[in-house]
Amino acid sequence: MSRVFSGIQPSGTLTLGNYLGAMKHFVELQKDHQCFFCIVDQHAITVPQNKTELRRNIRSLAALYLATGIDPEKSTLFIQSEVPAHSQLAWIMQCVSYIGELERMTQFKDKSAGKTGVSSALLTYPPLMAADILLYNTDIVPVGEDQKQHLELTRNLAERFNQQYNDIFTIPEVQIPKVGARIMSLQEPDKKMSKSDQNQKAFISMLDDEKTITKKIKSAVTDSENDIRFDRGNKPGVSNLMSILSLTSGRSLESIEQEYRGKGYGVFKEAVAEAVVSLLTPIRERYTELMESEELDEVLDQGAEQARKASFKTLKKAERAVGLGRKR
Ligand code: TYM
Repeated sequence: MSRVFSGIQPSGTLTLGNYLGAMKHFVELQKDHQCFFCIVDQHAITVPQNKTELRRNIRSLAALYLATGIDPEKSTLFIQSEVPAHSQLAWIMQCVSYIGELERMTQFKDKSAGKTGVSSALLTYPPLMAADILLYNTDIVPVGEDQKQHLELTRNLAERFNQQYNDIFTIPEVQIPKVGARIMSLQEPDKKMSKSDQNQKAFISMLDDEKTITKKIKSAVTDSENDIRFDRGNKPGVSNLMSILSLTSGRSLESIEQEYRGKGYGVFKEAVAEAVVSLLTPIRERYTELMESEELDEVLDQGAEQARKASFKTLKKAERAVGLGRKR
């Protein structure tokens, strides 16, 4: 059975973008793949975090994974910092990374631009991500569009390591969804929807209630045409809402275009809001139950143990290949 690995940062409540670009696909993949899903808390501390909030976000993300349908009987769900092999292999991967290629990463450029006191870990974030993936002999990495560059680097680092030392890493394939790989901001539809956006109206949080969701969708920026048509270049706002409706209702973009032709943005936005509400309401309810249950800790304990076992072998092989420690 082929292996899947993916991770999400616990750096705030997840958005609809995280769900449609990534999580939704995790749930589908677990049916016929061996899956590892990670709460990447060590990635989150590459920018300053409040300790109490980080703890809360880690727990909240674990509950969201389960509430969306990740089944601990089928998938391994765990917290990155509870599996030491991640940071151990990350060091080795840093040693095969070049500063120049890390400086070229768009995410590094965006997050460091114009800032002083940028942590060196923001630069060395991709080798940690490569370690996450390579430890599990991963075949497939489902992610949204914004992670594509990091995945290309992961493949390069793995190939470089295999050539320089020993052929031990599986070269992973990236899997990016055809629709929804980049859900855009509701206020600035040329920017991706992000949980760190200062403008609350720009994103839908997975825990927003019905009223908030409806309000945010109704105030989403569109254009002055009143014409429901998929055209990312000229109609980014409408196209984004169409993608959201397509993914939340399971309908094709063509059928949405046909149904809402000539009906106006008001009616269309109502349909989008309704579809998002009916997707998120049961998730939110299950999430609330889970946050109050002991089940969450049991799942995470079991996940950490499984991940420790699964990652140990690859770490040891990599250490041996580069000559670390003693030969035994
Ligand atoms: P993160 O936490 O920023 O995002 C988690 C997942 O959500 C996707 N995503 C989106 N998809 C569509 N539209 C959007 N607006 C949107 N915003 C976010 C992301 O592409 C991602 O799949 N570096 C990663 C976490 C990570 C990881 C890994 C992922 C660490 N190690 C190993 C895969 C494999 C990150 O910051 O994702």
